[in-house]
Amino acid sequence: MDKQITLRTPNPEDGPLVSDLIANCPPLDTNSRYCNLLQCSHFGDTCVAAWMDDELVGFVSGYILPRQPDTYFLWQIAVAAAARGQNLAQRMIHQALALPACSAVTQLQTTITDDNEASKRVFTKLAERRSTGITNEPFFTREVHFAGQHDTEYLYTIGPFK
Ligand SMILES: CC(C)(COP(=O)(O)OP(=O)(O)OC[C@H]1O[C@@H](n2cnc3c(N)ncnc32)[C@H](O)[C@@H]1OP(=O)(O)O)[C@@H](O)C(=O)NCCC(=O)NCCS
Repeated sequence: MDKQITLRTPNPEDGPLVSDLIANCPPLDTNSRYCNLLQCSHFGDTCVAAWMDDELVGFVSGYILPRQPDTYFLWQIAVAAAARGQNLAQRMIHQALALPACSAVTQLQTTITDDNEASKRVFTKLAERRSTGITNEPFFTREVHFAGQHDTEYLYTIGPFK
């Protein structure tokens, strides 16, 4: 039987485990440890950590857009290799959207590079499950925003949610 996975918002003490999880989930960009600590503290009310006993097996970082309080911006989603294929990504996103801090949210945005099929599938499935739309457009482009050093990030918008 699969071990039970529990979800909760993170604490600053979870920061080092978040950094390790992200480092073990390519192609995600790693962030500084300090950045992961900010996610687990200032942005903790809009993030979700998934635990199998005391092992961190999943993490969603996100925040409410400062100028658009109806929009949840999902920064990164990571599921440890051992916990994949159990719908954990969907569970964490649904949990994030159900957090009290997200009560005014009617749509989710995230950015995806064109080669990340797993990510595209996760968010297409989210739109299917919520019976809502999904659109995308270039957001941060290779030449203008990344000085040619990173693939273009497309902004995906999923919603409106009922
Ligand atoms: C992407 C990721 C979060 C999915 O986690 P997960 O818990 O296994 O996802 P789910 O079980 O909810 O599956 C969601 C869907 O994505 C599909 N999927 C997962 N990995 C895939 C891959 N590598 N290629 C194509 N589809 C993939 C699943 O088949 C499933 O679709 P289905 O139900 O139609 O079969 C996880 O594989 C991961 O952490 N990958 C590395 C980091 C990453 O790419 N994150 C996303 C970018 S922000």
